[in-house]
Amino acid sequence: MSTTVIILAAGKGTRMRSSLPKVLQPLAGQPLLGHVVQTAKALQAHQIITIYGHEGQRVKDAFQQEDIQWVEQKEQLGTGHAVQMVLPVLPQDGYSLILYGDVPLVSKKTLDQLVRATATSGIGMITLNVADPTGYGRIVRKNGAIQAIVEHKDASDEERQIQEINTGIYCVSNAKLHEWLPKLSNHNVQGEYYLTDIVAMAVQDGLSTASIQPEQAFEVEGVNDRIQLAALEREYQRQQAKQLMQQGVAFADPERFDLRGSLKVGQDVFIDINVIIEGECEIGDHVVIGAGSILKNTCIAAHTQVQPYSVFDHAQVGKNNRIGPFARLRPGSVLAADVHIGNFVEVKNTQIGEASKANHFTYLGDADIGKGCNIGAGTITCNYDGVNKHKTTIEHYAFIGSNSSLVAPVHIGTYATIGAGSVITRDVKAHTLAFERSQQTEKTNYQRPQKTQ
Ligand code: UD1
Ligand code: CA
Repeated sequence: MSTTVIILAAGKGTRMRSSLPKVLQPLAGQPLLGHVVQTAKALQAHQIITIYGHEGQRVKDAFQQEDIQWVEQKEQLGTGHAVQMVLPVLPQDGYSLILYGDVPLVSKKTLDQLVRATATSGIGMITLNVADPTGYGRIVRKNGAIQAIVEHKDASDEERQIQEINTGIYCVSNAKLHEWLPKLSNHNVQGEYYLTDIVAMAVQDGLSTASIQPEQAFEVEGVNDRIQLAALEREYQRQQAKQLMQQGVAFADPERFDLRGSLKVGQDVFIDINVIIEGECEIGDHVVIGAGSILKNTCIAAHTQVQPYSVFDHAQVGKNNRIGPFARLRPGSVLAADVHIGNFVEVKNTQIGEASKANHFTYLGDADIGKGCNIGAGTITCNYDGVNKHKTTIEHYAFIGSNSSLVAPVHIGTYATIGAGSVITRDVKAHTLAFERSQQTEKTNYQRPQKTQ
């Protein structure tokens, strides 16, 4: 059966009080609409049609890469009017799933279930029983069968007692949408074309409306303001932490974890509080991620210990490393096994060989460092001459004394030793000691100046 996904996203989102269109507000680092598009793709929809209105160009620009058909709704005359806009591009056969750009977390599983439930009847919907149905459309049933949806504002006192509400998510045969939508009227309290009216039309056609309920209520919750957005973000993060725990990850506190992307994990990973994972990351067996650390598009191999407040961006960390606290690994940092990177060490576009150490206050940029090297505290690779970047090569087992500046391009040979405080501007041969410092001056029996009155 060919499935079209129709996403309503023309609403203004006034209550967000933001210059960013509502459907572009991020949830777990991805626009709300992006979550819905991702689900549509997971469903292998034949076609994704998004109805846009406010700031359409900005929304379209944000989804340039996606295969989405955009349909404009110039004036927001109601949900039924929005879907009417789609009719000229909607196939005659197959089914449509009707979703919302501001209802980001509906799951593939629930939608699959809806499609299956609809297969025999031509129309199906997701409903939900809630304690407080105020504001929602109510599901009116007779002998269990759905008769109509009545909007809160149009409902009688008796109807307002109904606690089963319309989530707004439907699966409808395209043939029926072509038949029913042109017949909608706006004779109701709000003067809007209600999509909900198609349910009564189905009843008139002798069709029964299938209904299912989601496994979890947050799947059908919409975002109208920042309070709801924050609440959904927490729900989403809770789900992700739960899935990771099911895969064997131990969290100090799953409530204080944020995953804005995807994470592959090995066994017995421990994640301390306030860790943020972004993009696509991978963490191997027995890795420990210290409190407050941030990983973006980073791979960390087995048995590595990340101490608190370390920040990784496009880094590749080998096994059994010890990183941090307060380390910063920037793009192109590639670390072999048994490397130690200590506090306030910044690494960028640099390879570091097995068992090399840079334990304190160091900048390593555009460098190639062999194995078994010791990079002393305060070492700086001076990679930038103000115009171009240059490379520093440090061969195996070199020892760089503290507070040295290695002015690139420069090559330090195997087993070379650099004396502390040196500014190295020329290549240093293997097994050679190089130091560059002025003579120490001494004045014996020196009297310190006295304070004058
Ligand atoms: C709608 C349903 C209601 C349901 C509720 C669930 C109708 C008539 N009512 O009510 O039964 O309980 O959702 O949240 O459908 N939109 C457009 N163009 C428009 C109007 C709306 O794109 O002209 C989009 C909005 O951006 C929003 C969604 O449709 O994402 C729902 O619109 P909204 O006005 O919030 O519908 P409700 O009145 O809440
Ligand atoms: Ca609404």
